[in-house]
Amino acid sequence: MIYLDNAATTLKKPDSVYDAVIDCMKNYGANPGRGSHKLAMKASRKIYETRENIAKLFNIDNPMNIIFTSGATESLNLAIKGIVKEGDHIITTSMEHNSVIRPIKALEKYGVLNTIVSCEEDGTLDVKKLEKEIKENTKLIVTTHASNVCGTLIDIKKVSEIAKKNNIFYLVDASQTAGVYDIDVKSFNVDMIACAGHKSLFGPQGIGILYIKEGLKLNSIKEGGTGSSSLELYQPDVFPDKYESGTPNTQAIAGLNEGVKFILETSTKNIREKEEELCDYMLNRLKEIKDIKIYGIMDSKKRAPVIAINIGDLDSGEISFLLDSEYDIATRPGIHCSPLAHKTIGSLKQGAVRFSIGYFNAKEEIDITIDALKSIVESM
Ligand code: ALA
Repeated sequence: MIYLDNAATTLKKPDSVYDAVIDCMKNYGANPGRGSHKLAMKASRKIYETRENIAKLFNIDNPMNIIFTSGATESLNLAIKGIVKEGDHIITTSMEHNSVIRPIKALEKYGVLNTIVSCEEDGTLDVKKLEKEIKENTKLIVTTHASNVCGTLIDIKKVSEIAKKNNIFYLVDASQTAGVYDIDVKSFNVDMIACAGHKSLFGPQGIGILYIKEGLKLNSIKEGGTGSSSLELYQPDVFPDKYESGTPNTQAIAGLNEGVKFILETSTKNIREKEEELCDYMLNRLKEIKDIKIYGIMDSKKRAPVIAINIGDLDSGEISFLLDSEYDIATRPGIHCSPLAHKTIGSLKQGAVRFSIGYFNAKEEIDITIDALKSIVESM
């Protein structure tokens, strides 16, 4: 199969990831932090080692500021719901995934207000437009780093400057960029970063990360056993226990650790350069197809390698179905859980066929995909 659905989950991971998951489950997958026997200690050490490697990747000083969650959705829920209270105002953009929009909309019934800034048709954010929406009660700005629909990058450094200037917390959804783009929490000065472990960090599904800046305290959104301060009936206040109740997903963390190690060894620069090259190549070759509409920015330096297209008024679901059933090529059609992003780029009615490239894709796979698209168009 040619797998071009990496924006959903990377399928191909470094072999060390699969090995680490199995090794953990078979050989030491005990309850970390809950006992002091050898296996519990080994599991605890593995989790700490993973925090350290993630800290290296994002230039985070204190690995304890990294919270493990079940995925980007939980990370975003914790970050958004944990920071605001009644009367606060949140600003976000029209390019966000429902994992940002829905928690924000759910907070309306608790008296938390919101403004969704409309982005341009190519997905770009006019930061001045965002700045104009700041009110006295604005507590939080949330933006994606790259659209999961058309890949357009948001200048998170600029948004962060605006947030800092106005004393507002800034949360970045880096689900589509972590592991590929340099995200230095110190130079970018962001307060929180949420991302999935199973996309370009090459971890398994079921694991996500939330980085919380030193000194920033959120309310927890779940409480329970942490293996620490067990006599206390209230949730411990220390990081990361405050936010990590329940048995951790140790095997997924062990797999994620290997994914992150692979990225540190390969370097984000090399990963990004390869993905940009493939993205450029695909964008150029797609132009050979009659009646094609490519969404987002054509410059591969201003977008993650997530390419959304439509061909004439052909149904995006049908094209994706034919690519899969006739040509063994995996893509994702439809709305990608991001209705506002589709509305912004003008594809709400038709949805779009999304090709998302990963580090392990090859040029030849793109050639085969272009040929398949040409055949589909001819046959319809
Ligand atoms: N958010 C993931 C996607 O864009 C699942 O496909």
